[in-house]
Amino acid sequence: MSGVSGMLEGRRASRGRLITLEGIEGAGKSTVAVALREALESRGIEVCLTREPGGTPLAERVRALVLGHGEEPLAPQAELLLMFAARRIHVDNLIRPALERGQWVLCDRFTDATRAYQGGGRGMPADFIETLAGAVHPDVNPDLTLLLDLPVALGLSRAAGRRGVPDRFESEDVAFFERVRARYLELGRAQARFAVIDASRPLATVTADAVAALGRVLQA
Ligand code: TMP
Repeated sequence: MSGVSGMLEGRRASRGRLITLEGIEGAGKSTVAVALREALESRGIEVCLTREPGGTPLAERVRALVLGHGEEPLAPQAELLLMFAARRIHVDNLIRPALERGQWVLCDRFTDATRAYQGGGRGMPADFIETLAGAVHPDVNPDLTLLLDLPVALGLSRAAGRRGVPDRFESEDVAFFERVRARYLELGRAQARFAVIDASRPLATVTADAVAALGRVLQA
């Protein structure tokens, strides 16, 4: 076995990579995710594109609970635990099996969203979030995280243009999203697995930068 076919065989036999996409509302994650999938597939890599909260039928039911405006109050801690409950289901039933088959998983949000929204936005303690992350997915962590960063006002105006009834997060005020963005940027600065991409530029430019950032994991 040699050349390209040898490389592909090697890739299939080894564990896949987990690539996550993060950012506030209106950052363009969904469009970028589709472009990344195409870029990976064009290199012969099998891709599983998924999202959080959700990604499996059961985890999508948890998503509906946590995003919907229910009849009862949902304390920040309950919201945090529901995010991790959905994540545990998703990791066990979809992400880990896909990685073990050698597929690359492209996930629209993962635990950094919890760090940013429940940690930064809601003020839940970072050490509690890390304890839960360590218990829920000790063996499954992103190889690369693309943070699509843009000013809150721009993100919210883009998101408002395309949505129906705002969900529990979309109903939050600007100050909430400023805290979320600030926490994302802190994480992006602190950890080498992040590529921070300026998402205020035209989507084609953002997408090109995101595809270029894949080079880090393609060469690894
Ligand atoms: P989406 O609109 O990008 O699909 O994300 C759904 C919402 O859920 C979004 O407002 C961010 C929020 N969220 C959290 O608050 N914590 C999390 O851990 C995740 C995965 C999402």
